[in-house]
Amino acid sequence: MNENHAKLLGTAEWAAFLHDDILPAVAGDVDLGDDLLEIGPGPGAASEWLRHRVRRLVALELDPAAAAALQDRFAGTNVEAVTGDATAVGYPDASFDSVGTFTMLHHIPTLALQNKVLAEAFRVLRPGGTLVGSDSLPSNDLHHFHVDDTYNPLEPAALLTRLQTIGFAKVAITVDWSVKFVATKATEAAPPGAADASDGA
Ligand SMILES: C[S@@+](CC[C@H](N)C(=O)[O-])C[C@H]1O[C@@H](n2cnc3c(N)ncnc32)[C@H](O)[C@@H]1O
Repeated sequence: MNENHAKLLGTAEWAAFLHDDILPAVAGDVDLGDDLLEIGPGPGAASEWLRHRVRRLVALELDPAAAAALQDRFAGTNVEAVTGDATAVGYPDASFDSVGTFTMLHHIPTLALQNKVLAEAFRVLRPGGTLVGSDSLPSNDLHHFHVDDTYNPLEPAALLTRLQTIGFAKVAITVDWSVKFVATKATEAAPPGAADASDGA
């Protein structure tokens, strides 16, 4: 990430934005279960809010220095900070009750790799588990903020189809000044007469 991110993501203002505006809206009414995987935690502003909602939070961070800083920050808590790549999550199928991703997907350089991240989230979720996430909307300001950095923002209108194609059965997407999404992995087949959201029917 570039210098702009280094300056912003560790600030009290950024934490307040996530804690007050984003996380309650996305995850406030969601049962996150016992085991949560957070992908792309950065300095851990979202992790600090999320960790109080679960028994165990695994924070999977690509940047080894950021993962080491997270280990220090959350030492002795229920947060396990690990270095790893969300496009190839090193955990078995059905390991987590929930997966969270905040302000992170636009740092994944291609659509195909973003789909891999979403598919990996689906794979490691237990049946009935939920993906919760948010990201910034595309804008000139956001583009400029990412000078010399990856900038691949989500197209909100396409997100529903992408999540359904991966297999998520129940999807809610909110678009205001950000995109927020909650998507559930089904526990059972769709009831008779109802199309499974993932079958394209
Ligand atoms: C813009 S920061 C967001 C941090 C935090 N979620 C927040 O909202 O404050 C994106 C983070 O995702 C991490 N990241 C990027 N690609 C990743 C990948 N493939 N796997 C795991 N983490 C990744 C980056 O290193 C960075 O820490």
